[in-house]
Amino acid sequence: MCGIVGYTGCREAYPILIKGLHRLEYRGYDSAGTALFSENYGNLNIFKASGKVSDLEKAAEGHDRSGSMGIAHTRWATHGSPNVANAHPHVSQSGDITLVHNGIIENYAVLRDQLKAKGFTFKSQTDTEVLVQLIEFIRTTQETDIVNAVRLALTKAIGAYAIVVMDKRTPDVLVAARNASPMVIGIGENDSEFFIASDASPIAEYTNRMVYLNDGEVAVCVKGSPLKVLNLENDSVEAKVKKVNLDLNMLDKGGFPHFMLKEIFDQPNVLKDCLRGRLLPEHQRVILSAVTEHREELLNAKRFIVVSCGTSWHAGLIGKQLIEDFCQIPVEVAYASEFRYANPVVGPGDIVIAISQSGETADTLAAINLAKAKGAMIFGIVNAVGSSIARHTDTGTYIHVGPEIGVASTKAFTGQVTVLIMLALALAHEKKSISTASYQEVLAELALIPEKIEKVLEQNDKIKTLASRYAECRNFLYLGRGVNYPVALEGALKLKEISYIHAEGYPAAEMKHGPIALVDEDMPVVFIATHHQLYEKVVSNMQEVIARKGKILAIVTEGDELVKKMVDEVIEVPQTLNCLAPLLTVIPLQILAYHIAVAKGLNVDMPRNLAKSVTVE
Ligand code: M6R
Repeated sequence: MCGIVGYTGCREAYPILIKGLHRLEYRGYDSAGTALFSENYGNLNIFKASGKVSDLEKAAEGHDRSGSMGIAHTRWATHGSPNVANAHPHVSQSGDITLVHNGIIENYAVLRDQLKAKGFTFKSQTDTEVLVQLIEFIRTTQETDIVNAVRLALTKAIGAYAIVVMDKRTPDVLVAARNASPMVIGIGENDSEFFIASDASPIAEYTNRMVYLNDGEVAVCVKGSPLKVLNLENDSVEAKVKKVNLDLNMLDKGGFPHFMLKEIFDQPNVLKDCLRGRLLPEHQRVILSAVTEHREELLNAKRFIVVSCGTSWHAGLIGKQLIEDFCQIPVEVAYASEFRYANPVVGPGDIVIAISQSGETADTLAAINLAKAKGAMIFGIVNAVGSSIARHTDTGTYIHVGPEIGVASTKAFTGQVTVLIMLALALAHEKKSISTASYQEVLAELALIPEKIEKVLEQNDKIKTLASRYAECRNFLYLGRGVNYPVALEGALKLKEISYIHAEGYPAAEMKHGPIALVDEDMPVVFIATHHQLYEKVVSNMQEVIARKGKILAIVTEGDELVKKMVDEVIEVPQTLNCLAPLLTVIPLQILAYHIAVAKGLNVDMPRNLAKSVTVE
């Protein structure tokens, strides 16, 4: 979703801003723009383009791009189509003030009418332009400075925002603020330069000293002066500096043609990182510090409620089965977007598990805040360190799989499932609801998962060949049972996200209650049919598809001769325990979706209409 970069200091701003926008491309966007303050002529030079950051670079080519202060933005259209007029930065009526904004100003229509009545005109359809005009209106009518004008304007704005504002009258000063949309400020050399961004990735190569703004805070970044943070009431707030070290190699493709493929292949290594220090097979223990620190609350929980969206919701469905099975604690799994408006029955004694890769998903954040206000304890399973969700939880476990750039989530899913398995095991062990033999068996097998994933990855070429045969299909059905049912949902989501092929996931036994009507010779059906107690029943479901001439691609356990003889294609995964099967069965589905999308010539890492970090509801 939208991305922001800002800089004020002694360096040339333009290269920093453009490089930063490239780093944020993974979030998904459809236009881009930048504004630079040129000291030479006291001008604000603004460049915008619909399309990609490279289009913006072309638009700026040959023009004055000098200046040591500037702001830049990638826009994911919400109010108004993705054209140049709607692209940020937006400029106030006098041309003095420029602003970039992530989020949505919900009362923009009312504010716009009020401003129109005062003589303001608007060049775009955006909610953002309303904010920049409002700031100008306040600055002029109240004869105040830009910092005060921003602060007062924000007291009138309802909604989510992360903004950076620049005023021609006060060169060197960038004003940044946030409410329900992330904003990080990097403090550079000698504390005299500032890098501002919507996440740490554009900043990490310049500094590891970062301040994450909280909701309702305004940061005043003046070249050569210490950072000042205020709240909307104009009181000073302590700027808490955190050391954030991002591995920059993780932000590059590392020789792969796409981030998604790199991230699929990253999985053996990053899952080792996720397990490191937590799974201690030699001591036959799994230790999660959150479980150690909050043992009593967790063991005495009335129930767990998972809140999440998309892929993270699928991981939650697997977590439910594992926690209920191992710990006999009831678990509900809710779409965060539904939970937040459902007036849910939740309160003290409930533990809400928030799962999120980005840690910035607006619906998940709102669900957490609601549950917290009602007295529940919040346990986060998050990837992005220091993200809003991570900071709003009471405790939790990072998945530690490194930055995920491809819009289609892959390694974050397996990381989330791995943490959920460790959580279920750690709780069950404390609760003594699992036998020592089973506990140790799962631990030992979990330690082997990274190398078993390596074996699945070896089939990349085979899956690529298969994919070329499926690229022209219009519909797919994905079926699985038990822990492999959420994997079916995830496989279908991966395919539709990046290949734009309609795909549905179902519990295999549900097929006969409706979806079977769709089955004919043109309908590929992907079965996840690894060895577990329901294997024979899944094989019967395959027979039902075969009887209707459906084409079957089956994910099976290595050495499965029965299914091999029955169906069109099989992909084998190594034998493992049923509770760990999703960590292996999802891998071929990720690879399949990837190669089908590539065969169709689509933009795998940035599929149309999608954003990596969904910071609006
Ligand atoms: O960052 P989050 O895990 O909170 O994101 C939730 C969903 O937006 C995300 O999983 C989405 O469904 C992915 N594009 C799936 O590949």
